[in-house]
Amino acid sequence: MNLRRSAILREMGLAPLWRLRTAAETADAGEISPSPAPFGHPLPQAGEGLILPSPTSGRGAGEKGEGNEWSDLSQERADTSRIAAMDWQELEETIRACRSCVLCEKRTQAVPGVGDRQAHWMFIGEGPGVEEDRRGEPFVGQAGKLLDHMLAALGLKRGENVYIANAVKCRPPHNRTPEAAEIAACAVFLDRQVALVRPRLLVALGRPAAQALLGREISIAAARGKRFERDGVPVIVTYHPAYLLRNPLDKGKAWEDLCFARRIVAEGQ
Ligand code: URA
Repeated sequence: MNLRRSAILREMGLAPLWRLRTAAETADAGEISPSPAPFGHPLPQAGEGLILPSPTSGRGAGEKGEGNEWSDLSQERADTSRIAAMDWQELEETIRACRSCVLCEKRTQAVPGVGDRQAHWMFIGEGPGVEEDRRGEPFVGQAGKLLDHMLAALGLKRGENVYIANAVKCRPPHNRTPEAAEIAACAVFLDRQVALVRPRLLVALGRPAAQALLGREISIAAARGKRFERDGVPVIVTYHPAYLLRNPLDKGKAWEDLCFARRIVAEGQ
């Protein structure tokens, strides 16, 4: 291990723990599911069950108002197809103008995503925090520093072969967890980002991200070490860096997850 790598691992409090297991050790530990373990539930289609962004409507996610439900539904379908055909510029402009849920009311700005648009690795977080809301970039606060160290431990760097986005693009007030309706309102944007990047792997950082990617609630503890799939793209889940800052003893488990992730990306070569 070179000095830089050791320094990174020390910084994460991982130096004694982070070691890539041999295949035999992994099998003995029985922690990593060797084969895909889909949940057996169909994933929601982009925008399913939502009223999609209409910059002028001002409706909250899930609110159908007094209007005709059938026209709402056809509007929703039209919005979904429009977004599903957008290029990066249109997509980011639409995200920045979005007013489809209450999160738009308190944001400074929406935070679409950042990084290499042809990345093999795509990391999905929960939603912007105060610093991200101010700067317009995901994971630039304390949790972002840890994420950068996690990337470095994998030999990766923000912006190089890595794309980072969030389940919701606007900051939930007081950094609360985004609600299911807010995640659903933003899903069409995440869908398009994933379709444009076409990564080899999606890494869900924490429960809301996993919910956004897999379309159902899961427990991180139960889902770690399993390989899920979303539209043909492998998905793994691990702890959110903010959780790891509060629970540093779980950093070793996060490293196991990242090693698992690295094997999946290598398999796709
Ligand atoms: N936490 C997240 O989930 N995303 C960010 O962008 C920042 C903190």
